[in-house]
Amino acid sequence: MRVKGLPEKDVLVKLQQARLRDLRYEDGKILCSMCTNPHPAAKQAHKMFLEANLGDAGLFPGSVQLEREAVASLAELLHAPEGGGGFIVSGGTEANLLALYAARNASKVASPEVVVPESAHFSFDKVCDLLRLKILKAKLDTSFRVDPASVEELINENTVAVVGNAGSAELGTVDPIDALSKIAVECGVPLHVDAAFGGLFVPFLKELGYTTPEFDFVLDGIQSITVDPHKMGMSTIPAGGILFRSSKTWECIKTATPYLTEPNQCTFVGTRPAASAAAAWAVFESLGREGFKKAVADCMDVTNYLYEGLEEAGFEVLLRPPMNIVAFRSADSKMLASKLRSRGWHVSYVPRLDCIRLVLMPHTTKKHAAEFLLYLGKLKAK
Ligand SMILES: Cc1ncc(COP(=O)(O)O)c(C=O)c1O
Repeated sequence: MRVKGLPEKDVLVKLQQARLRDLRYEDGKILCSMCTNPHPAAKQAHKMFLEANLGDAGLFPGSVQLEREAVASLAELLHAPEGGGGFIVSGGTEANLLALYAARNASKVASPEVVVPESAHFSFDKVCDLLRLKILKAKLDTSFRVDPASVEELINENTVAVVGNAGSAELGTVDPIDALSKIAVECGVPLHVDAAFGGLFVPFLKELGYTTPEFDFVLDGIQSITVDPHKMGMSTIPAGGILFRSSKTWECIKTATPYLTEPNQCTFVGTRPAASAAAAWAVFESLGREGFKKAVADCMDVTNYLYEGLEEAGFEVLLRPPMNIVAFRSADSKMLASKLRSRGWHVSYVPRLDCIRLVLMPHTTKKHAAEFLLYLGKLKAK
């Protein structure tokens, strides 16, 4: 650290210089991110709650109220029954961590194991390592969704939880959660659904007439769901969401906080930004279901346009997009991804599937998609 502080204007110049090196969502070249430009109401709310700390809740009752209301909106959307609840946390990773932490602590198993789909987000590898859970990966079927028979085969007396995706990170697939729920009930293990990405998308797809499988608390076996405001919730970072069917579950993950204004905490992170909870609340209030439905419709418009364009151009598209992710292959997908990136088009390459993955968030317009297709066409012709 420097000995003598700089004048504010010099600090600002340095900040601006750093910021200018960052990419901007609005330029339309970020095609690989599950985050987006926050809604204006989220930015405003975030600024208003900068110093408020949900980790010392007694000092910030207004912030606590906003977190409760934001969680209640998510719970209502995902049909959580009375008596449930949750938290706005740092992201999908922490939400998945809390779900498995609760499942592990609720069980009396000495060598606990968790069954996840092969397509589960890598956060489960981190979480299982931290919690000393053995992770078993179930096979997928030809539509890239987990095969319930494979899940069933992996369940044994050590299983403390089963995980399903509702909007997998790589392809946006929704696993057969209804089948997983039945298995979970039969085997007496909790089912956790990772809807970090899909939780604020799939319900609106359904309203738009797309066929989507059930994935939320209407299914008995589901005990917890991850659903992140900082992804399709268009909120500010960091804002993940964890919902539990029953608030009794979080008794297993409570830690006493003797010197704070609240007697205990259930989240992993201690000092927590109320700014993110306020931002999520502000988006829910500003958009309402109608606003979300429109955002989802717009994303699907761009997604379907790209899907059709890629097919027309002769690329192998892995599947009809179940949500706003398109995955495709060329003769050398890895090389193509790296060429695109070097020319400023930020796409992901997924080694497991040897494909290029595009995520069409609200910042990507049809015009951007058309430019991308044009560019791809030129590269292909070379
Ligand atoms: C399905 C899914 N789960 C979990 C995560 C982890 O979320 P975060 O990066 O917010 O911790 C992601 C991130 O993209 C995700 O797509």
